[in-house]
Amino acid sequence: MSARVWWRVDNGRRSVIRHAALLGLLVASLAAPALAVETIDEDLMYDIDDLHAALKQQLARQDAARTGAAATKLQALLAQVEAFYARDPATKDAVGFARKAQALSAQLGSSSAAGDWPAAATAYQALSASCKSCHSRYNP
Ligand code: HEC
Repeated sequence: MSARVWWRVDNGRRSVIRHAALLGLLVASLAAPALAVETIDEDLMYDIDDLHAALKQQLARQDAARTGAAATKLQALLAQVEAFYARDPATKDAVGFARKAQALSAQLGSSSAAGDWPAAATAYQALSASCKSCHSRYNP
């Protein structure tokens, strides 16, 4: 094969790469406005934050009744977050984070009702991590 043919092959490959890069930019520009619209209500998030903070205090006091009540409320608010993200298939990982956080809230409530404070503390830590997982993706 002559050097000239190699050059042509190489040039063709570069052009494919260039087109792939342009396609990538196009996809990114189409995806950006969709993500910008997907912001959840800040008041809802602040209510969630209040409950999350209250849970920490009630866990420290080993107050099963208040821990259970706050965990139930938190679960309901996280269900609203889930419903918000469920409208768009592009945000299905947010639905996953919201579901996981609900399951952990429920676990926190049942562990505290059973008086298993170490398990409740573990659930609380996992819950906090699931808030962060969603924030690092949707609220950087
Ligand atoms: C499914 C995704 C998701 C989950 C789960 C989630 N958040 Fe958020 N959170 C967001 C988004 C998106 C925003 C930004 C809302 C805005 O500014 O419009 C936000 C904003 C906040 C804010 C406002 C301050 C800021 O950083 O902008 C607080 C406080 C907060 N979240 C706390 C929590 C806590 C505590 C949890 C867990 C118990 C939690 N969030 C779980 C998505 C999530």
